[in-house]
Amino acid sequence: MKHLLSSHDLSVDEIVGILDVADHMAEINTRSLPKVPALRGKTIASVFFEDSTRTRLSFETAAKRLSADVMTFMASSSSLNKGESLRDTIETLSAMGVDAMVIRHKSSGVPLTMTQWTDAVVINAGDGWHQHPTQGLLDAYTVTREFGTKDSLSGRSIAIVGDIKHSRVARSNIDIFRRLGAHVVVVAPPALLPKNIESWGVEVRNTIDDVVGEVDALYMLRMQLERMDSSIVPKLTEYCALYSLTPERAARMGSGAILMHPGPINRGVELIVDPTDVPGSRILKQVTNGVNVRMAVLFTLLGSGATTVLQQGGES
Ligand code: CP
Repeated sequence: MKHLLSSHDLSVDEIVGILDVADHMAEINTRSLPKVPALRGKTIASVFFEDSTRTRLSFETAAKRLSADVMTFMASSSSLNKGESLRDTIETLSAMGVDAMVIRHKSSGVPLTMTQWTDAVVINAGDGWHQHPTQGLLDAYTVTREFGTKDSLSGRSIAIVGDIKHSRVARSNIDIFRRLGAHVVVVAPPALLPKNIESWGVEVRNTIDDVVGEVDALYMLRMQLERMDSSIVPKLTEYCALYSLTPERAARMGSGAILMHPGPINRGVELIVDPTDVPGSRILKQVTNGVNVRMAVLFTLLGSGATTVLQQGGES
């Protein structure tokens, strides 16, 4: 595996291996100096053509904690605004000597195309509706560690609620959750389900009330308002009546069930309840785990493979 473009690039053994490495990273992140020299001398560029808070900052934090140098490309203040092409931009960054590029783009397939323009490792940080593989990995880490079943989600049920059709998170997470053995249920209005949902190996239910008290994990998706035209969901109030998590519905979650959301949350749309009022909420834990898992991904793709380096202290 040279690049990480899709969850489908990873075998189950590779997924489990990355989650195991993330346990080492979680331990490092509890140290008073959470830094190891594992990627000293490497340069990692975060190349985001679309907005991000969690993914960009957690990758940059992960790279710094592994002692890599970090280069941040901001599309909004770059020479793209003077008409420079995507290809010339990537070739320019590559010419500066970059070992890995972490890319987000609104168009599906751009990370794959980029691999033709650079020798650097390419990591997909979200491309259009297509894939967000590190989100799938950090969510699998969150669920497996929550339920203490490190290598498997066998016997666990996870409901993914909301805008499945436009969601790269749904595509990566359904693939990884299913291959780890979970039973995955999707809940969405017909207009927000992909046409070929039958081939995804998931159960389809009609409203959040059908699943809220039954599943081990309730995964609320962000309504991708920027990726749909208003005709798809003409009335948000009608959507909320059937698909939003309200305080009453949250109170019906099973004992020990957890609430997840990839962020950013549209408060008042998918979540009408304040997540801090839901004891099972692991939404901020997902963010913490994002650093652990992205450290594991960078180490797996760029490190020497010797985990002894993770026992060492980093530079102050
Ligand atoms: N979950 C996620 O990708 O969040 P950001 O858009 O803030 O990176």
